[in-house]
Amino acid sequence: MIVALNNKSNLTKEEYKNYIEDLIKIECQSKIILCPTFLNLGSMTVKDIHLGAQNVSSTASGAYTGEVSASQLKSYNAEYCIVGHSERREYQKESNEEISLKINKLFTEGIIPILCVGETKEQRENNQVEAVLKEEILSATKTLSNEEKSKLIIAYEPIWSIGTGIIPTNIEITAVFKYIKEFLPDSKILYGGSANEKNVDILKEVSLIDGYLLGGLSLKPQDLKIFLNKLEN
Ligand code: 13P
Repeated sequence: MIVALNNKSNLTKEEYKNYIEDLIKIECQSKIILCPTFLNLGSMTVKDIHLGAQNVSSTASGAYTGEVSASQLKSYNAEYCIVGHSERREYQKESNEEISLKINKLFTEGIIPILCVGETKEQRENNQVEAVLKEEILSATKTLSNEEKSKLIIAYEPIWSIGTGIIPTNIEITAVFKYIKEFLPDSKILYGGSANEKNVDILKEVSLIDGYLLGGLSLKPQDLKIFLNKLEN
């Protein structure tokens, strides 16, 4: 299982130091990908924990104030990078076009993109789930080779589930994962959205789930430990 930890815009320098001390005490078989903020990404490398970023510039290095390029991420040993998170799509108005450029920049540096896709509550109620996912996936992958497509990781994060405590049913998750596999049969697919130590017993019944992208739970090492323990046993 892949368990990616999206710290989002949390943890000061000091808090991150304490957090890492707790995180490294967790023993598990899953592949942990830690995605801290850019500032914390550079602060330390931890054995057995893979490093990921939460975002990357769609441009190369150069005169782009405030941006962080894929080659800079590479130089800090980032192996993965989240792209197209719904929070960035909403607050930073990131378009599918820009997300496609970011994915290309990452592959150029040998960094694996974790592409987030997912629908709003309204889109689900209007039976637009497949249309939304199709657009997000096809626009992001149109320039990729088959090899790159197979390396791309997808995180299905229904927007109505993020931070709400509400999760889709296993039937809903299975239907979406099967649909994504029609486009990307070889990609690993993660589930994200209010996954926690209380609902993992239900979620792990979905055999198509290759792993999880955790937000809130990523910040609580004690609960994360319980989550991993339940997931793996
Ligand atoms: P929560 O786990 O807090 O719902 O966040 C999920 C998420 O957005 C991970 O990228």
